[in-house]
Amino acid sequence: MDRGTKAAVLVTGGAGFIGAHTAKALHDRGYLPVVYDNLSSGFRDAVRWGPFVHGDIRDERALGDALAEHGIKAVIHFAGLIEVGRSVAKPDLFWEHNVAGTVSLLGAMRDRGVGRLVFSSSAAVYGQGGRGPLETIPEDAPKAPASPYGDTKLACEWMIQAQCRAYGLTGVALRYFNAAGADPSDQIGEAHEPETHLIPLAIAAALGDGKPLTVFGDDFDTPDGTCLRDYIHVSDLAAAHVAALEADLPAGAFEAVNVGTGQGASVFEVVKAVGQAVGHAVPHSIGARRAGDPASLVANPSRARELLGWSATRSSLDQIVADALRWERTPRYGAGVRGERKMQASVD
Ligand SMILES: NC(=O)c1ccc[n+]([C@@H]2O[C@H](COP(=O)([O-])OP(=O)(O)OC[C@H]3O[C@@H](n4cnc5c(N)ncnc54)[C@H](O)[C@@H]3O)[C@@H](O)[C@H]2O)c1
Repeated sequence: MDRGTKAAVLVTGGAGFIGAHTAKALHDRGYLPVVYDNLSSGFRDAVRWGPFVHGDIRDERALGDALAEHGIKAVIHFAGLIEVGRSVAKPDLFWEHNVAGTVSLLGAMRDRGVGRLVFSSSAAVYGQGGRGPLETIPEDAPKAPASPYGDTKLACEWMIQAQCRAYGLTGVALRYFNAAGADPSDQIGEAHEPETHLIPLAIAAALGDGKPLTVFGDDFDTPDGTCLRDYIHVSDLAAAHVAALEADLPAGAFEAVNVGTGQGASVFEVVKAVGQAVGHAVPHSIGARRAGDPASLVANPSRARELLGWSATRSSLDQIVADALRWERTPRYGAGVRGERKMQASVD
């Protein structure tokens, strides 16, 4: 998509963690981000860089109205449910929000002639990881989601690809690895309820705002026995969305692209980095492995470099932890959620 003066981009889920950071990146690059969100887990205070439309992605008519009213040229689609554990207990809910919601969005875009979509996919489509336990994962690695959450992300990719072929939509699915950190301005940051991600949980445990952290398994086939994950700074992730929006792709093209760093950090390395940033050790204990946790999920990010001209610049573990810690210490929206966070960490 050409960068026009204040071209309007609909950001579904733009009141949430990654969506809000992307809205800011769009604004900084000269676009007008129009956030469309039902605020089920997002925050009105996180919408700061353009108009807000309160709506549900399952409401095709309201979506169509928003596309028309704001003269939308492209959509970045974050809205959906994200907790892996909850998807096992309530798979129907996840298919309804994530898959039926995407059907409704695709219908509204087709009817209004909106030709470009960037979709939040996930490393969860790879399930147990790549071809070997410690190898980085390329996009053509086997797809075998280990949860209904991952199933919904893969189903959405297939559906978007089919719509690209049928109607000339241009689609990019970005498969995120572990998003973390916060915008350097401290205006926005991570505020999930319940929080299931390791870095905010480790910080909460260290600051005494949450229970001691449980490390789920220290007997994996990895150098220190704990799981390896690829942590990507949310500002880098936001930049990847802008690059996907602007990528030179023909009508009808569909691309799936990993967004990660190519470097894994173990749970113990994260715990140590948080301890160093806070100034004392993170209280933690070792628990049993959780069902379905792969030993290693680390992206091969070459395709993002080749196709989008994108690579991570702010994603060292120390930088991510420093930004996340500053955000946790900043008075902010979502501040009340921390004490109720569940002490678990997952890849979504
Ligand atoms: N956080 C990660 O590490 C990660 C990793 C891989 C993929 N993802 C994907 O990225 C996207 C954003 O994740 P996040 O961490 O920012 O989550 P988030 O919960 O902070 O944001 C999701 C937003 O979607 C909104 N929403 C949910 N259902 C909706 C509906 N039916 N209609 C309208 N709005 C709705 C919520 O109110 C919220 O603002 C999700 O699709 C998630 O699956 C996240």
